[in-house]
Amino acid sequence: MSIPTQIKSVSDTSMEKAASLLRTGQLVAFPTETVYGIGADACNDLAVARIFEVKGRPQFNPLIIHIIDLKQANSYAVFGDISTQAAEKFWPGPLTLVLPRRPHSNISKLASAGLNTVALRAPGHPAARQLLELASCPIAAPSANLSGNLSPTTPHHVSKSLGDNVQLILDGGPCSIGVESTIIDCSVTPPSLLRPGGVPVEEIEKEIGPLAVPSERTVRAPGMLANHYAPTTPVRLNAQECQANEVLLAFGPHPVNGAKITKNLSPTGDVVEAASNLFAMLHALDAENCTTIAAMPIPEYGLGLAINDRLRRAAFAGK
Ligand code: TXA
Ligand code: MG
Repeated sequence: MSIPTQIKSVSDTSMEKAASLLRTGQLVAFPTETVYGIGADACNDLAVARIFEVKGRPQFNPLIIHIIDLKQANSYAVFGDISTQAAEKFWPGPLTLVLPRRPHSNISKLASAGLNTVALRAPGHPAARQLLELASCPIAAPSANLSGNLSPTTPHHVSKSLGDNVQLILDGGPCSIGVESTIIDCSVTPPSLLRPGGVPVEEIEKEIGPLAVPSERTVRAPGMLANHYAPTTPVRLNAQECQANEVLLAFGPHPVNGAKITKNLSPTGDVVEAASNLFAMLHALDAENCTTIAAMPIPEYGLGLAINDRLRRAAFAGK
């Protein structure tokens, strides 16, 4: 039997309630600076299993473990010089590090899908940090959506995707970054980029040197499966024109004419603003029941890389 979902603004009372749900093995949806997560106590296998159930996620897909800082992270994974440097520079923030698991770590094996590595991130959002402190456990949290759906950047997206399968959604407003964290695998040398995201690759490379990019076929992060980010409506990339039965995902000051509805990711052509609008606008355009979402070209730099990555997956999923 499912209990109706409660959406509660972030307050001392709602945070206490959320922390107590986590401590007793329940799930809580909470805001991070990237996207909303659906969290469970990362040391509780049953709670972690419930995440897979609620998301309808294939069990081999490992989860990101959210921790408060490098000190806590160190008790679950083995850091080297490069990973320490990356964590010191970019945490708290939208960077996830994949590292060798400590052999006796009490993180649920299910959470890391039986791998001998673990993905760790210290989120920057104050509500996420407060929740980590109050719950006093690491929190395993994938994005709070059904597997294969768009990632949620508002509490409304979460309730639309997960329905009454989540008891409590903490409402911290829209996510400021709006795309998931950048994931780098530091269990290999040189570290490799598993998923472009909230920290631009250029910034990471400036700090720790060049990253390797794994080939499409070695799917180290199953979330990189090509169809992972999929609206129901087919997506057409690099649109230079638009038909009346299409909706337009525009970018920049000169949206192409002719679409039934246009949403502009950033009228000024700012990739950071565009990233923060990406999922909300895809959700909105997907709800229009049009034949196609035509997406204008997005520049391939900074967060543009992450945006294009998500759009390519969305386009591929419709094929
Ligand atoms: O911004 C984010 O990262 C959000 C918020 C909630 O923190 N979380 C998120 O989680 O996007 P999720 O589960 O949707 O994506 C996690 C990604 C998946 O692609 C998964 O395969 C990868 O992390 N991953 C987790 N553990 C891994 C590991 N040990 N090795 C390789 N990839 C791993
Ligand atoms: Mg996800």
